[in-house]
Amino acid sequence: MSQKTRRVFLNSKTIAGTLFTGLTYRAAHAGERNELKVGLIGCGGRGNGAAVNALSADENTKLYAVGDAFLPKAQGAAEGLATQFEGRVDVEGRIFSGLDAYKQVVDCCDVVLLCEAPGFRYRSLRYAVEQGKHVFCEKPVATDAPGVRSVMKSTEIAKEKGLTLVSGLCWRYDLNVKDIMERVLDGVIGEITSARLTFMGGKLWTRPRAEDDTELMAQVRNWYNYSWLSGDFNVEQHVHTLDKALWAMHNVPPATCYGLGTRMQRTEQPAYGDIYDSMAAVFEYPNGTTLYSYCRQQNDCWGENNARFAGTKGFVSSTLGRGVITDLDGKVIYERQNVPSDMYSLEHIEMFKSIRGEIDTINNGDYMSKATMMGIMGREACYTGKKLKWDDELNSDKSYAPSAYEPDGTPWNAPDEQGRYKIQVPGLGQVYHTVTR
Ligand SMILES: NC(=O)c1ccc[n+]([C@@H]2O[C@H](COP(=O)([O-])OP(=O)(O)OC[C@H]3O[C@@H](n4cnc5c(N)ncnc54)[C@H](O)[C@@H]3O)[C@@H](O)[C@H]2O)c1
Repeated sequence: MSQKTRRVFLNSKTIAGTLFTGLTYRAAHAGERNELKVGLIGCGGRGNGAAVNALSADENTKLYAVGDAFLPKAQGAAEGLATQFEGRVDVEGRIFSGLDAYKQVVDCCDVVLLCEAPGFRYRSLRYAVEQGKHVFCEKPVATDAPGVRSVMKSTEIAKEKGLTLVSGLCWRYDLNVKDIMERVLDGVIGEITSARLTFMGGKLWTRPRAEDDTELMAQVRNWYNYSWLSGDFNVEQHVHTLDKALWAMHNVPPATCYGLGTRMQRTEQPAYGDIYDSMAAVFEYPNGTTLYSYCRQQNDCWGENNARFAGTKGFVSSTLGRGVITDLDGKVIYERQNVPSDMYSLEHIEMFKSIRGEIDTINNGDYMSKATMMGIMGREACYTGKKLKWDDELNSDKSYAPSAYEPDGTPWNAPDEQGRYKIQVPGLGQVYHTVTR
C-alpha cells in the first residue's frame, strides 16, 4: 500500500469510523470534506491559540475534547473557544483533567494539538501516533535525551502509518523566512562557515503554588521554571533559533558543543525553580563550521531574536524582520520585501491540507527532534561545563524526570526545608542556591 493510499485509508477509519476497503478516502468522498474532531491537550496560552488556528484553518473541524493538568484551565478553554466559534465546540462530557488527560482526548479525536508542558510531550505524542491520530506537536518535543529518542521513534511510527505530524517550530512555515532560507540552502552565500544565533529577552512568568498542590503539581503549575518540565529556556525558547541554524545546515546536527551559563537575576526561590537565565553555547561541525548561540532571560538588558549566517560567498544579516543577503564586500545581493505571513495559521492550514490528502503527508519529526536535542546538548554543556559530543548526548540516559508522572510522584529536584532547590553549577554539579527571598 502506498504511503498516500495508506494514510487516506487510515483517515477514512478515523474520520468516518467506516472501513473503505479498496477505496481511497478521496475516491469515496469526492467533493466532500468530512468533519474532523480536534482535541486540545494543554489549555494555556498556546493551546488556545493553536485551537483557534486549527478551527480557522479548516471549516469542517470541530473542537471535540479538551484536556489539561488543571480542570479550570480545560473548562476555561472550552468556554472561551465556544464563544469565539459558535457551533464548532462540542466538548460536553469531554473536558478532561489530570496528568493522564491526554489519553482520553486522543481516544475520541482525529487530530490532537499537543500544547502541554514540554516534559510530557513525548508521552502524548507516542500515545497519539500509536492510536493512529494526526498531530500538531508544539516545541520543544522533549526535555532530555530519552524523550528525544522516544519522539524519533514516534516519528517513524507516524511515517509508517501515514499520519500527519506538524511541528510548532513555526518559523519553518513563515513565508518570508522560508524565502531567505531557500536561498541559503541553494548556496547563495556558499558554504556556511559560522552563525550567530540569539534569543535575548526579559524574565518570563512564575506561578505560585495552590493550597492543595503536591510538590509535583506545584512544579507542573509553574512548569517554565523547572528543567524537567520546560527543558530550561535554552530548550523551551531558544529552540526556535537553534532550529533556524539546523535548517540552514540542511538538518545536519553539530558534532560537539561547549558552553557557559548561569542564573544571575532568577534568584528568588522557590519561584524560579532550577533554571538558568543566561546561556552561551558553541556548536561545532567536523568541517570547522561553528554556530555561536546566545540566549538570555534577564530584565533591563539588550534584546535580540535573530539568526545570522556567514558563508564562503556572503552573509545573511537577518532571517527575522526583513532578510538581507550580501556578498563578502557587503554589497546587497537580495533584500526580501516581506509579505504578510501568519506562521501560526500557515502551519495549521498546511496540516489540514496534508490530512485531507491535498498535499503530500507532512512529517516534521526529524527536525523537531534534532532541534530539541541541540537545545538539550547546549543546556547540558552549560550545566556541566564539559565539552560534549552529539552522539554521546543523544544516547545519554540522563533525565530529570520524576519517579512517576503522578501528583504524588517524587520530583527530581525537591526543595529543602527553606524552600531552596538545588541548582546546577558547572564543574561542581548540583548545589543549593545561596540566595532566598
Ligand atoms: N511555537 C511557539 O511560538 C510557541 C509559543 C508559546 C508557547 N509554545 C509552546 O507551547 C507549549 C505551552 O506553552 P504555553 O505558553 O501555552 O504555556 P501555558 O502554561 O500557558 O499552558 C500550558 C498548559 O499545559 C497544561 N499542562 C501542563 N502539563 C500538562 C499535562 N501533563 N497534561 C495536560 N496539560 C498539562 C498547564 O496546566 C497549562 O494550562 C510549550 O511547549 C511552549 O514551548 C510555543
